[in-house]
Amino acid sequence: MAVQCTFSIIKPDATIGNNTGAINAIFEKAGLRIVAQKRIQMSQAQAETFYAVHSERPFFGELVEFMISAPVVVQVLEGENAVLAHREVMGATNPAEAADGTVRKEFAKSIGENSVHGSDSEENAALEIAQFFSGNEIVG
Ligand code: CMP
Repeated sequence: MAVQCTFSIIKPDATIGNNTGAINAIFEKAGLRIVAQKRIQMSQAQAETFYAVHSERPFFGELVEFMISAPVVVQVLEGENAVLAHREVMGATNPAEAADGTVRKEFAKSIGENSVHGSDSEENAALEIAQFFSGNEIVG
């Protein structure tokens, strides 16, 4: 499998908990390289656009409110098979189902406040990266 990029967000529960560095250490140990990263306060419009695919879901409002409740860290991670490697190390969406050693097992509070987001495909990774980074901000 070739080297890929994926998009990652360290969510408000994790930034408030001061766990950004600990989560990055888990990513790096899994072979992922942080090739772009910035801490931002997401706007409501940014969050609604980013999660537009979930706009009809009952938890959409709650999800948007949570994502703008505190700073997040948006990232581009690079590595062999990065989309899958990142999803494996994040753990299951619901932390109650997350495997030992995963970010969500260690840090997440609930299915809503689940510490990290990761792209689910290479195509979506490219779309998500483009929402937050310009090409010259990504340095491999
Ligand atoms: P994420 O990978 O960022 O993509 C969509 C998010 O919706 C997901 O992580 C969860 O944080 C959130 N989510 C999914 N299911 C629920 C739910 N039942 N209640 C609240 N939030 C949810």
